[in-house]
Amino acid sequence: MKKEIQSDIIIFGASGDLALRKLMPALYHLLKGNHLGSETRIIAVSRDNMTQEEYCNIIEQKFKASFKEKVFDEQVFEVFKIRLHYVMVDLMQEESYQSLANLLKGHEEKERINYLSTAPSLFGTICRFLDNAGLILPTSRVVLEKPIGNDLKSSQVINDEVSKHFSESTIFRIDHYLGKDTVQNILALRFSNMLFAPIWNSLYIDHIQITVAETVGAEGRWSYYDNYGAMRDMVQNHLLQLLCLITMEPPSSLNGDNVRDEKLKVIRSLRYIDGENLRLKTVRGQYASGVSDKKAVVGYLEEDGGNANSLTETFVALRADIDNWRWNGVPIYLRTGKRMREKYSEIVIDFKDVPHSIFPKGGICIDSNKLVIRLQPDESISLFIMNKIPGLNEGMRLQKVKLDLNVAASTVRTPDAYEHLLLDVVRNNPTLFMRRDEVEAAWVWADKILDGWKNNGITPKPYTSGTDGPSASIALIERDGRSWYEK
Ligand code: BG6
Repeated sequence: MKKEIQSDIIIFGASGDLALRKLMPALYHLLKGNHLGSETRIIAVSRDNMTQEEYCNIIEQKFKASFKEKVFDEQVFEVFKIRLHYVMVDLMQEESYQSLANLLKGHEEKERINYLSTAPSLFGTICRFLDNAGLILPTSRVVLEKPIGNDLKSSQVINDEVSKHFSESTIFRIDHYLGKDTVQNILALRFSNMLFAPIWNSLYIDHIQITVAETVGAEGRWSYYDNYGAMRDMVQNHLLQLLCLITMEPPSSLNGDNVRDEKLKVIRSLRYIDGENLRLKTVRGQYASGVSDKKAVVGYLEEDGGNANSLTETFVALRADIDNWRWNGVPIYLRTGKRMREKYSEIVIDFKDVPHSIFPKGGICIDSNKLVIRLQPDESISLFIMNKIPGLNEGMRLQKVKLDLNVAASTVRTPDAYEHLLLDVVRNNPTLFMRRDEVEAAWVWADKILDGWKNNGITPKPYTSGTDGPSASIALIERDGRSWYEK
């Protein structure tokens, strides 16, 4: 029988939004599914002055409000409460870590996981104070939430500080997109089927589109978001990770660094976008008022706590090019935004046209084959092909049909990305986490665009909430004789 792993999972910033909305529910589900060792403890650290009971009440209310029917199980929650320990620590005060040290005393044989769900500016300080208090053991790991910095320089400062106390192999940098089941399915689709492998290159693929559209705005987190914007918040990490999984070479295995090495090669092959290309190949947008999810919504600048002069983008569209043998001449169009028409994430692989048509002109034109991978909210994989319209029509008439490659709708609950990732940290499996060189390479590419926008006065174009973004994003792809895929 496999040996159970016993851990102390310490969540710093335990009363923050991420901890309450994602981390605690993920730990509850891991407990419910018997994935945590019987001695594993969850230690919630926050500077809020409250009792263990008060913290558990907050969690209970959150779970009851957000879990779908029957998912909240009183009995499991009773066990969860026994495993949960709340401890108040002012993370900026070294002496305050004593209360955490007291709680950890006598549990040195467990694997110690420090999840820093705090502002990145605190990462270095927390690691230093943990080290000074003797709380970092050989089995300790640290999990860092994105964003790690807001450019290459600031990310290096954070990584340097953390690496004084933790070695690279014990640092787990999260990009929660990599924890999504549907995103991992890209690996399965590409590397467990021979079908697409021979045509996955510039000989057969015309271009690729990656869209991550959201209907939410920056409401509630305006001041955080305004320091980042869509380029730093989404493109530098989530969209680049999707691009990597779609375009990387086959890794020799899923172990350790193999996948990360291949992703890094892709990021390093991305062509810089600068000079004239900043205006031709990128579009920044900012949402104005409109209608979203059938409700009238205000624009980004009028949001609560907003600053009417902000030049932060809430939308980005761009054309990326990978300068390597496989992808030469295949543009990858990326698009992401808040307050868009619909929430969905989708990857479209658009194949080349047939070289010569043998079918009569005047009938329907032959559309290129498309493989559409829908990641959320619903998962699906569809292949569009041309087909003969059945019947005795004169000549050969064609129509486009959709082959759904989906596995039948499953009744099994899909685990949240954070469940996958927390379990991987417990199991000490780093494959789905970002290595320092990967994060830095992504910043090098993103910084070129961010600096270019700043130095050339390229400001965001307004778009009406509830639409597909600024019209310039349509022009961006149409200039190349292509168009965004629409269902
Ligand atoms: C986060 C961003 O990383 O991802 C948010 O900071 C964004 O701005 C979120 O809303 C989107 O994640 P998901 O899983 O809802 O697609």
